[in-house]
Amino acid sequence: MGVIELAGVARRYETGGGVVTALAGVDLTVDAGELVVVLGPSGSGKTTLLNLIGALDTPSEGRASVAGHDLAAASRGELFRYRRETVSFVFQSFNLFPGLTALENVRFGADVAGRDDAVGVARDVLVQVGLGDRVDHFPAMLSGGEQQRVAIARALATGNPVLLADEPTGELDFHTGTQILQLLRDQASSGRAVLVVTHNREIARMADRVVELSGGQVVHVGPPEGGPVPVDELRW
Ligand SMILES: Nc1ncnc2c1ncn2[C@@H]1O[C@H](COP(=O)(O)OP(=O)(O)OP(=O)(O)O)[C@@H](O)[C@H]1O
Ligand SMILES: [Mg+2]
Repeated sequence: MGVIELAGVARRYETGGGVVTALAGVDLTVDAGELVVVLGPSGSGKTTLLNLIGALDTPSEGRASVAGHDLAAASRGELFRYRRETVSFVFQSFNLFPGLTALENVRFGADVAGRDDAVGVARDVLVQVGLGDRVDHFPAMLSGGEQQRVAIARALATGNPVLLADEPTGELDFHTGTQILQLLRDQASSGRAVLVVTHNREIARMADRVVELSGGQVVHVGPPEGGPVPVDELRW
């Protein structure tokens, strides 16, 4: 049993102009300790897939089970616990609270997940992402790469077993981007199930497994050609 188990998952949206099929017939299993990259062009359904796994959205069809939670059948209360204690998101646009410092933003992640000593956890995680000397900075006083590292620190501070990252390097330069990817790789190595969404084929080379989406369907699943490479061998 994987941590993430999807079977026959579809998501359709009713719009004024008809029905949009964002995902169809998706089967996917992700194990603890595995780093999976979801690769596909714009509009292929990547964010839709991540949102379903994160319970920000519900499938129109199929089964989605994560860490023993049946997401389609779960009550509101169970989903609330699931979002707090099981999944963590890193968004492309960071989504930090502008009026909270780096430490306060990260502490928020630990608080939401109900961890003891949230401030201590937040400090430790900020040191881990290389921002021990930026704890009192507000987001506006941080570079884009630093803001993304705070966003990752906030996700890590939850201690949750499933980490979902949507284009986490989308707004970053190569050097900063690879630092972020290394952090994500480290999370998988420490036992989390990590799902990274990207349209960048080079990033997929670091994955244990690549899931390619096209037009809302999985068109290929497997390890990258030649097997996963260390993050410092990526070039783009
Ligand atoms: N709420 C919605 N209502 C209607 N259509 C939607 C909705 N959300 C997504 N879609 C459509 O579903 C398809 C998949 O969208 P999705 O955001 O998952 O793509 P993506 O692979 O993340 O693309 P990008 O790389 O641009 O972020 C697109 O055609 C999109 O227009
Ligand atoms: Mg997207």
